[in-house]
Amino acid sequence: MFSRCFSVLAIACQKEYYIRTLGVFMEEKAKKQKTNEPVSPLMERLVSLAKRRGFIYAGSEIYGGLGGTWDYGPLGVELKNNIKKEWWKRFVSYRRDMYGIDSSILMNSKVWEASGHLKNFVDPMVDCKKCKGRFRADKIDVSSGCPTCGAKDFTEARPFNMMFKTHAGPVEDSGAEVYLRPETAQGMFVNFKNVIDSFHPKLPFGIAQIGKAFRNEITPGNFIFRTREFEQMEIEYFIKPGGWESQFDYWLGEMRKWTEFLGIAKGVSEREVSAEDRAHYSKRTIDIDFEFPFGKEELYGLAYRTDFDLKNHIEKSGIDLVYYNEETKKKLVPHVIEPTFGVDRTMLAVLLNSFAEEEVKEGEIRAVLKFPARLAPVKVAVFPLVSNKENILAKAEEVHGRLKESIDSVRWDDIGNIGKRYRRQDEIGTPWCVTVDYQTLEDGTVTVRDRDTMKQERIAAGELAGYFHKKLSQ
Ligand code: GAP
Repeated sequence: MFSRCFSVLAIACQKEYYIRTLGVFMEEKAKKQKTNEPVSPLMERLVSLAKRRGFIYAGSEIYGGLGGTWDYGPLGVELKNNIKKEWWKRFVSYRRDMYGIDSSILMNSKVWEASGHLKNFVDPMVDCKKCKGRFRADKIDVSSGCPTCGAKDFTEARPFNMMFKTHAGPVEDSGAEVYLRPETAQGMFVNFKNVIDSFHPKLPFGIAQIGKAFRNEITPGNFIFRTREFEQMEIEYFIKPGGWESQFDYWLGEMRKWTEFLGIAKGVSEREVSAEDRAHYSKRTIDIDFEFPFGKEELYGLAYRTDFDLKNHIEKSGIDLVYYNEETKKKLVPHVIEPTFGVDRTMLAVLLNSFAEEEVKEGEIRAVLKFPARLAPVKVAVFPLVSNKENILAKAEEVHGRLKESIDSVRWDDIGNIGKRYRRQDEIGTPWCVTVDYQTLEDGTVTVRDRDTMKQERIAAGELAGYFHKKLSQ
């Protein structure tokens, strides 16, 4: 969680391998090789595949990149959208106690005063006096020297506010200062009364949103793990004061189930965050860590935010952000349990977890992304066995056209031989490939090849949509 205080300077954390842009990635790799430190081959190959196959590109790459920014390519955006779509279905659409919103990134600066971010949203920063490199004091081992030049001459640690500041309107005076939101959560708190007035929900209920957040991280790195612009999927779950523990446990359980759905549960562990490391608003936090190649790091967080936010907004705005309890005929300020999920870290965990290189025949390796089918950017690829036979092409086009109507993201592929097409689809994680061949013309069946088992079976073309729907609902 954020808001690390000065005292953590003393804590020697594990080495972090920062990848700012692809350029910096290669530079650091060269540096590590010189010092014989191991680079993470898995991460390196994943970064390369992600770029080659159109998942993730370095931000502003043609200008040498911009630290802490990455762009999602055609397949990356599909994967990301599928993650968000599944999250929204599970935590918002399928629940009767959840209200989804989409609030502005720019908010009145008083929001950040009330939330405590102007004062507390700080990381401890040190500068290397020799090379002028800047580091997060809690993320480097200061006693081992500067990670860039090795010098052991640092400035004192000082707090650095991570909010990006800009100005609303043409006049850049202090009255026009606004901040890019560092968390989506405050959108839920400032709309608490609006949601109550529109829907009159009964406690407990939640407000959720998915959206961009911005943090001027001192040391972004590790590919899309720590960036300056990222997306969050957050829930503020409002409960009666008292008895928060059972709600906290319930949400921990829901978060575990989500990691199971993503297929990453095996790499996940839970960590109680100590009082000095907890964010300023939290009375209890459990971080859900994932075993990344660069170490065990925070994937998600679950916090008991008490009534901290609503109370402060009541005080600063003068608006009565209370809940009227029909049973007791009394007003109360609800408390809040907050499950928070980073979209980009989910992407990274899913990509790492799905990535495999397997020997299919002697000397022949296939790279494959074994995404859960519902997350796969392409669900089904349709191939005509040969592309110079009119009747096969026409039949394949008919199969492709019909499937497209009922299954999301069906692709056409007729380039190269079937083996090459399978390898290409494996690399982008397509769960099923359908081939229309000579037998199709005789008996109306096609081959369906499974990405993970590589087994093929014959299915009647007319039954394909039902077959895939069943698989996708498993
Ligand atoms: N509203 C609570 C909150 O923002 P947080 O632990 O600071 O808590 C929530 O952030 C989640 O956002 C993290 O668990 C992580 O998944 C993601 N996140 C935070 N900082 C990030 C960064 N610089 N780059 C990518 N994801 C980040």
